[in-house]
Amino acid sequence: MFQHTNHEVYVATARSGDVLSGNIVTWALPGSLVPDAGRAVVVLSPLNFTHTLIRETGRFVLHLLAADQLDWLVRFGLSSGRDVDKFAGIPLGQTRSGLPVLPGTCGWVEMRIVDRLDSGDRIVYLCDALEIGEEPARPVLHLKDAFARLPAEVVAALQEKKARDGDRDRAWLKDFGTPKPLRTIIDPP
Ligand SMILES: Cc1cc2nc3c(=O)[nH]c(=O)nc-3n(C[C@H](O)[C@H](O)[C@H](O)COP(=O)(O)O)c2cc1C
Repeated sequence: MFQHTNHEVYVATARSGDVLSGNIVTWALPGSLVPDAGRAVVVLSPLNFTHTLIRETGRFVLHLLAADQLDWLVRFGLSSGRDVDKFAGIPLGQTRSGLPVLPGTCGWVEMRIVDRLDSGDRIVYLCDALEIGEEPARPVLHLKDAFARLPAEVVAALQEKKARDGDRDRAWLKDFGTPKPLRTIIDPP
């Protein structure tokens, strides 16, 4: 079912002391219908370097990428801040509290983590907005469109990493004792 979705693409940035990091996030959504609640749900891998900084501070900045920021999907999603400086050459801004802000996005929110659900390989975070950065309206980057525009070898590298991360995460997945799902095939009308 989820193969039919077409997620927006976000970058979560964090800072702990002088150390910065950022990673691609696609599992993010509003956390309340109340217009001024400023609440979001964000699902993060505890194995990412960016998560280490987020866990230390309880805060991060979520940016919605614009369609012309395709390169950042690769920059922030394919390698780790443990190995490379992902911010090299980017004229960074900052939030009022000093967290890194990427320029030219569709908007950003500095988040404060208020609760969490640990499923082993992922942590589901409930977050409240601390500061909202409003940017001029721009077309939004969606995952399927991004993959359609990237060179074939980059798509292959991203798919390889996804498969590798999935294998790695199997050992971390918490088992709640649920039996394997049944499969029901609906014939076309
Ligand atoms: C298309 C795509 C979607 C991703 N979605 C998420 C996500 O929702 N949550 C997450 O924690 N990581 C997600 N990732 C994985 C991280 O962005 C990736 O592992 C990154 O290299 C981690 O970098 P870091 O170690 O510097 O934090 C995604 C990666 C890609 C390419």
